[in-house]
Amino acid sequence: MSPLVEFRSVERTYPSRQGPLHVIRDVSFTIERGGILAVVGESGCGKTTTGKIAAGLVDPSRGTVLFDGENISGFKGPELSRFRRRVQLIHQDPYSSLNPVRTVYQTLAAPLKRFRLVKNRTELLHKVRELLLTVDLTPPDDYLYKYPHQLSGGQRQRVAVARALTVNPDFIIADESVSMVDVSIRSSLLNMLLRLNQELGVAFLFITHDLSVARYFSWRGKTAVMYLGRIVEYGPTPEVTRLSAHPYSRALVASLPVSDPRVARLRAQDDEVGSPDVPSIQNIPPGCAFHPRCPLYMAGSCDRDVPELMGMRESESLHQVACPVVLTR
Ligand SMILES: Nc1ncnc2c1ncn2[C@@H]1O[C@H](COP(=O)(O)OP(=O)(O)OP(=O)(O)O)[C@@H](O)[C@H]1O
Ligand SMILES: [Mg+2]
Repeated sequence: MSPLVEFRSVERTYPSRQGPLHVIRDVSFTIERGGILAVVGESGCGKTTTGKIAAGLVDPSRGTVLFDGENISGFKGPELSRFRRRVQLIHQDPYSSLNPVRTVYQTLAAPLKRFRLVKNRTELLHKVRELLLTVDLTPPDDYLYKYPHQLSGGQRQRVAVARALTVNPDFIIADESVSMVDVSIRSSLLNMLLRLNQELGVAFLFITHDLSVARYFSWRGKTAVMYLGRIVEYGPTPEVTRLSAHPYSRALVASLPVSDPRVARLRAQDDEVGSPDVPSIQNIPPGCAFHPRCPLYMAGSCDRDVPELMGMRESESLHQVACPVVLTR
């Protein structure tokens, strides 16, 4: 059976005065039915663009996106509306994604009515209450007639998730869905989303700049580490995060907080990255884009050849890394 989602060498460029901006390049991955892929990387590396392409909201400049084995660029009419229902994007910013003049009830009732997913008003109210329970907004009647400004950031995000669930999606793209909420409620939001994955079988493309959040959410799935528009490491999350191979992923792991300060110091020395200034997409370094910051930099090759993702030799699994220096060590 084909995977639910497949990116094949997807590229997106935007024109600019300095020439084409390569926002993402050669991005390939698969997400199985009910699977999870976390995409992690610094600001501006192309995560949201990847998510929007997966949702069919931005077209790739090159490459192919398959959903359920079919090229999404060919979807039209009823096929396109079916795709739009099966795939839901939860926006980075719940403040701007919820209509401020609609109550929670109106927000959730609208798609249920539009797609005729309920027969009558009684069923509609029942369904809205059920959705609020699913996203842990309890008791539901306390929330039905509230407006977005009367809710906290975490509650708003839960309403955004409930709205995505109105149409029974198979695939949710969650773009920094827990980044704007307090740390104290982050884990309950993450657990709520994980329950949707485990109990309803919803597949996730989970976008975050925070490796610890990615690791927690996708522990049973995969992680793709992105750097300036390219995936530099990809594979089962335990391997990518415990046996990180790419110097950039290692630097991300090294920056995670650890409780023992001695371990933190050793780790920081081990994986220090050269410059704190992140090169930008407007000015991508030649060869491996990470080379100006890389502790393993080798002149003459790293600054000339763009490394491809290749399987880690000793690993039986699908753990891949785009760094020939690491692969030949
Ligand atoms: N429509 C567009 N036109 C021109 N440039 C764009 C467009 N959309 C995105 N970009 C540029 O592409 C790059 C990647 O943007 P993207 O939003 O995908 O990054 P991101 O990884 O989601 O960042 P963040 O973590 O800050 O949300 C940025 O430099 C951005 O300015
Ligand atoms: Mg983004």
